[in-house]
Amino acid sequence: MPLVEARRLEKTYVSGEVEVQAIRGVDFTIAPGSFVSFVGPSGSGKSTLLNMIGCLDPPTAGTLFVAGTDVSTLSRKESARFRGEHIGFVFQDFNLIPVLTVYENIEYPLLMVQSWPQAERKKRIAQVLAAVGMEDQAGVDHQPEAGAGRRAHRQSGPRNSQQDHHPDERDA
Ligand SMILES: Nc1ncnc2c1ncn2[C@@H]1O[C@H](COP(=O)(O)OP(=O)(O)OP(=O)(O)O)[C@@H](O)[C@H]1O
Ligand SMILES: [Mg+2]
Repeated sequence: MPLVEARRLEKTYVSGEVEVQAIRGVDFTIAPGSFVSFVGPSGSGKSTLLNMIGCLDPPTAGTLFVAGTDVSTLSRKESARFRGEHIGFVFQDFNLIPVLTVYENIEYPLLMVQSWPQAERKKRIAQVLAAVGMEDQAGVDHQPEAGAGRRAHRQSGPRNSQQDHHPDERDA
């Protein structure tokens, strides 16, 4: 089963009297485990496409299957739940929550949508920190280092690694 399958996918933005056909009947599939880039000039619809695959914005027409679910028919509430369970976003500017510790930043999405018991969460958080060589941050009282870009990026990775990654406009 493809991870993502788009058929005759369309997105038209309407602002006032102006219609912009950002995506005009696109077909593609993405296999599980593959690494895919959308490349094209500014305004060609890359972010529009990623927003639809990431269930942030619904298509205007066509079908879009993500992990076996037709996400084009989901309500806002259903989309939010689906995002929480299946989709990870790696943001260019980290979006760590400065008042939460490293541990809490990683725990936050698990609390939001996945009702795992505390012991299970703790184990999972230790695993994702270890995966990026940050075992030393597994204590519950480490603050995120706002100024330290590399470390902040490594924290935002574990925070999102419970799901499939889904970056837009990442730094190289
Ligand atoms: N919210 C919106 N309302 C109206 N038009 C929009 C909206 N978002 C995007 N567009 C238009 O849709 C088209 C595709 O935009 P999009 O942002 O997807 O392109 P992009 O390939 O990501 O560009 P960039 O490389 O600059 O990020 C453009 O013509 C843009 O002006
Ligand atoms: Mg863009």
